Amino acid sequence: MEKRIGFIGAGNMSSTIIRGLVKSFEGMNQSIYISNRTIKKAEKLCNQVHINLCRTNVELAENSDIIFLGVKPHMYDGVLREISSYVTKDQIIVSLAAGITTEDMGEYFKEPMKIIRIMPNVPVSVGEGMIALSSNGNVTGEEVDFVVQLLSSVGKVDQIDESLIDAVTTISGCSPAFIAMFVEALADGSVRKGMPRDKAYLYAAQTLIGTGKMILEKGLHPGELKDMVSSPGGVTIEGVYELEKRGFRNMLIEVVEACERKTKSMKSKKVEE
Ligand SMILES: NC(=O)c1ccc[n+]([C@@H]2O[C@H](COP(=O)([O-])OP(=O)(O)OC[C@H]3O[C@@H](n4cnc5c(N)ncnc54)[C@H](OP(=O)(O)O)[C@@H]3O)[C@@H](O)[C@H]2O)c1
Repeated sequence: MEKRIGFIGAGNMSSTIIRGLVKSFEGMNQSIYISNRTIKKAEKLCNQVHINLCRTNVELAENSDIIFLGVKPHMYDGVLREISSYVTKDQIIVSLAAGITTEDMGEYFKEPMKIIRIMPNVPVSVGEGMIALSSNGNVTGEEVDFVVQLLSSVGKVDQIDESLIDAVTTISGCSPAFIAMFVEALADGSVRKGMPRDKAYLYAAQTLIGTGKMILEKGLHPGELKDMVSSPGGVTIEGVYELEKRGFRNMLIEVVEACERKTKSMKSKKVEE
């Protein structure tokens, strides 16, 4: 591995991606660098996966070809100011933050910089992440392919236009929380009817995985899948009717609207997610 890959911030997302990289590419640990505000946290990760510790963000910036910014969006301003004079136009910066555009980030630098924006989600921790990726015009196709290859170790990577990243933030970045609530609520209903809780989670979560695979692997339209299960006058269509009566689809469409509004407000106010 020729390229040195740096991560500023040893939080959930960075450490999950690092673990995926180390697991998937033999010897990759030697090319990974980490810095973190609380140094002990970075040291712990280094001891676990045998990567290189940098004591400051500047040291990391000077030692990495690709720099992942794994800090919360409201910390980007401070970190970018701190490293901007040490990063050159040949390095690649990878942003993980919602609401901050490649153009916003470019303003911290004197030269046109190579900036990639990704939006991962928590299933990266089981290698089933969904990762949207877009890049500015300074990143070459070969460089994008390299970063896609790295991230493929923790999930599916899809290259999209940056204008769609805010929408992605909701549909895959936030939605594991909504989907977990759906599983929990479905399980609550079944527990209410006497099903043991562990079994209720097993049935609901496995059904979620299987349904996802039918859509992705068989290419089934979600509506077609719904129709397949809904026999005339049967039990499923009764449930579909209840969901529709209570505005299930409309509620989710409104949820996407609310999340997008929040994402945009974060950019202007630089507040916590
Ligand atoms: N988690 C998700 O599901 C998810 C999904 C999509 C995108 N993202 C994005 O991924 C990024 C990281 O999120 P996360 O969930 O991994 O956050 P996190 O677990 O809170 O980790 C953030 C890390 O950044 C460190 N940090 C803070 N300020 C720093 C500084 N000035 N210099 C160096 N390190 C600093 C923190 O150090 P301390 O140990 O001192 O606190 C912490 O370890 C965010 O931009 C987030 O929006 C996350």
